[in-house]
Amino acid sequence: MKINDLLFKLPSAASSVPTPRFINLRESESSELQTGSIASELTQGLTAQSAALSPKFFYNTLGSKLFEAITVLDEYYPTRTEAGIFQAASTQIASALAQTGLNDPCLIDLGAGNCAKALALMPVITPRQYVPVDISADFLRDAAGQVQNSFPALDIVGVGMDFSAGLRLPDEVQLHDRVYFYPGSSLGNFQPAQALAFLRNIADKAQGKARGLLLGIDLVKDTATLEAAYDDALGVTAAFNKNLLRNVNELLAADFDVRQWKHVAVFNAEHSRIEMHLEALSDLRVTWPGHSRHFVAGERIHTESSYKYTVESMTDLLKQAGFSQVRHWTDPQQWFAVFWAAA
Ligand code: AVJ
Repeated sequence: MKINDLLFKLPSAASSVPTPRFINLRESESSELQTGSIASELTQGLTAQSAALSPKFFYNTLGSKLFEAITVLDEYYPTRTEAGIFQAASTQIASALAQTGLNDPCLIDLGAGNCAKALALMPVITPRQYVPVDISADFLRDAAGQVQNSFPALDIVGVGMDFSAGLRLPDEVQLHDRVYFYPGSSLGNFQPAQALAFLRNIADKAQGKARGLLLGIDLVKDTATLEAAYDDALGVTAAFNKNLLRNVNELLAADFDVRQWKHVAVFNAEHSRIEMHLEALSDLRVTWPGHSRHFVAGERIHTESSYKYTVESMTDLLKQAGFSQVRHWTDPQQWFAVFWAAA
């Protein structure tokens, strides 16, 4: 009897929840033109004297899943530390939003991934529209559907896009008051000058509407803690890094052999950033249509920089970007900080 109940109830319950709107700006750009631009970006990075590839190429569907796994590792403190700050400061965050004049805003979730962070903040922000944005479009589409199941009445517009070169949201996104949500220290993937330009763009688009940015930033701390977070004992981060080569094989029809590469993570104190590299284990050659590159043993491909800030350096950056009010919350160890910046 119970099973019969389920058989009858599940499909009808599921069908009463709408499928969120989803705009895949990657699919529509997978014309020859865009494919060509990805190929030339990759070729440029692979043929440069010091080879380097953008960390955005981590995030194919497996890469997004590996990143989810990273967030629950013992060594990877940022996600759980940030969640703790959001929880402890939720009342204060809600009143900061209200003071900025933001009531039931449009919530724009930058690099939403599995949407878990925004889900936890729904009762605090109470958005009237939710716009998760992520380069990992298929992964995001599933996640947005799950958010819709939890909040059937919420207007959701998922957007699959690469916003690393600039954020241009589609017209479906309402123009009213906006909360930009950029958690997880993902801003740290930009070089500080690029981060400033990105923040300026968010602070600028005022158009007379209230807007603010809720930003999570990883803070400078001892090198051992930082390096362990990017080189965990289980090797999940190593797999995440090497998976970039699988993605490049797919995007570029290249012939990287993942087994020939080693994961390297080091803190560069001079630039205040964690660097991830892939290091050739032996002399080898990589080939893709029209090109090839020889790597000597020990030669590296720089795959990620993750900049670490101080409360002071990020406050300065946000003010320089044009935000008039900046406040922050942190954890007892001061490992991570959440900023509220109002335009
Ligand atoms: C998603 C860019 C914030 O830099 O900590 C995690 C990505 N790289 N482990 C970070 C990442 C290796 C992550 N961000």
